[in-house]
Amino acid sequence: MVQSRTVGKSEFSVQINGMATKSPEHQHPAIVLGIETSCDETAAAVIRLDKAGRGEILSNIIRSQWEEHEQFGGVVPEIAARAHVECLDEIIALALETAGLDFQDLNAIAATAGPGLIGGLLVGLTTAKSIAFAHNLDFVTVNHLEAHALTVGLTDNQTPPYMLLLVSGGHTQIVLVRDFGSYVRLGTTIDDALGEAFDKTAKLLDLGFPGGPAVEQHARLGNPNRFDFPRPLRNRREAHFSFAGLKTAVRRAAEKLQPIADEDIANLCASFENAICDVVADRLTRAHEIAKVEHGVDQDIPLVAAGGVARNRKLREALKETANRLGCNLVVPPPELCTDNAAMIAWAGAQQYARGDTSDLDFSARARWPLDEASQAVYGSGKHGAKA
Ligand code: KG4
Ligand code: ZN
Repeated sequence: MVQSRTVGKSEFSVQINGMATKSPEHQHPAIVLGIETSCDETAAAVIRLDKAGRGEILSNIIRSQWEEHEQFGGVVPEIAARAHVECLDEIIALALETAGLDFQDLNAIAATAGPGLIGGLLVGLTTAKSIAFAHNLDFVTVNHLEAHALTVGLTDNQTPPYMLLLVSGGHTQIVLVRDFGSYVRLGTTIDDALGEAFDKTAKLLDLGFPGGPAVEQHARLGNPNRFDFPRPLRNRREAHFSFAGLKTAVRRAAEKLQPIADEDIANLCASFENAICDVVADRLTRAHEIAKVEHGVDQDIPLVAAGGVARNRKLREALKETANRLGCNLVVPPPELCTDNAAMIAWAGAQQYARGDTSDLDFSARARWPLDEASQAVYGSGKHGAKA
């Protein structure tokens, strides 16, 4: 599909789901400011894209809202939006100051336009539009999932094609990244996201928020084989995930242990992580097969991981084993670039900018914005609805 769009400085044609036509104005090197406000991190970063297409992080500022949400055991959308409003200007100023730059030094400004919590998205997007307008900068709208998917280009110079495991608080997917802008969803979750399963497990064990790091910390001292938790959907034909039953199994086991000792908590966390690692390894193996048989993919494309849960050390070890078994390279960004950050937004924005793929200032935020627009909703128990 070819669509004409008017942008800040020029008009050109851009091909959706493929390489965009390059506008002469949008050449490397480029300096791009990225803004991320889709969930509970307020972040701004500046990156430089050099002539060879490599990225350098000039600044990367993140303010997490954990303290605001901790007492509720999860992210409260209204509180998140307000917290973004309160500090975004300061975070942007700090990102520029750290990079030693001013607005006039930028080529473009990129902001997360979705998917995510609509209030937060509006804060980031409106701020970016205002800056773009005031300083006559090109404006780029970024899909948050695409930014996670492309992070390995910034950190490891890894270009598509590759198979991506995206595991965060809101999403759990296996995606075939064929090219920039060309994604095929191979698997998704039918209920909870993996990060959500960590967060809920932490909540029921009273370990605090966010749950992932807390579960990981307790698991280090535990016995991963103490509890034989279910491995949902293992050996199924599709490469989908389900975590609701696993979380319930942890709750039942914890209820039987009351009053619960520190050692019990460590064993529950370690056994939970162990089950997760088995499930992920099994589902990736299945997705790898689907990619080969149904999508004609060459056997040795790399395995890439992204999203907050990819920080987890046990999971990273399991991914290494899986990649070795499948005969592919494993590429995982450093932990601080797995969780939400604005460097990945600036990087994805710079890729789009370099292809001349910029947006109008009337671009609307999208609470739901699947990477693979053609993928069908997958229905699970019905309790959590369909996930794309
Ligand atoms: O990518 P991210 O920062 O935000 C979303 O886009 O959702 O991911 C946040 C999720 C949370 O659910 C958090 O508990 C989880 O990543 N997480 C972890 C770890 N660090 C963060 N899960 C397991 N182990 C960790 N070390
Ligand atoms: Zn994320």
